[in-house]
Amino acid sequence: AFVVTENCIKCKYQDCVEVCPVDCFYEGPNFLVIHPDECIDCALCEPECPANAIFSEDEVPKGQEKYIKLNAELAEVWPNITEKGEAPADAKQWDGVSDKFQYLER
Ligand code: SF4
Ligand code: F3S
Repeated sequence: AFVVTENCIKCKYQDCVEVCPVDCFYEGPNFLVIHPDECIDCALCEPECPANAIFSEDEVPKGQEKYIKLNAELAEVWPNITEKGEAPADAKQWDGVSDKFQYLER
């Protein structure tokens, strides 16, 4: 499956949602996750993310392995999202900021 990683936090551009053929994105307050059992590995979402936050699970950057489990966990409790909404007004300022895990809202 593909995995949403740290740089999505507080950026949440949602371009990924528009291209997913199986609608397997789930939405939290400031982050999105992919349901690993529903993702068909089409790879369409990966290049769409302006924050480069999406990776195949075997290519998740070092130190971000915990996001694999986190996507699986949160996809079970967050609601499904099928249409792109508005990104946060300050999304650009947060793009590339390190250690954003502390800001993850659940
Ligand atoms: Fe959806 Fe394809 Fe991305 Fe999986 S890889 S989340 S199926 S767009
Ligand atoms: Fe997040 Fe990128 Fe989608 S910032 S909401 S994974 S387009």
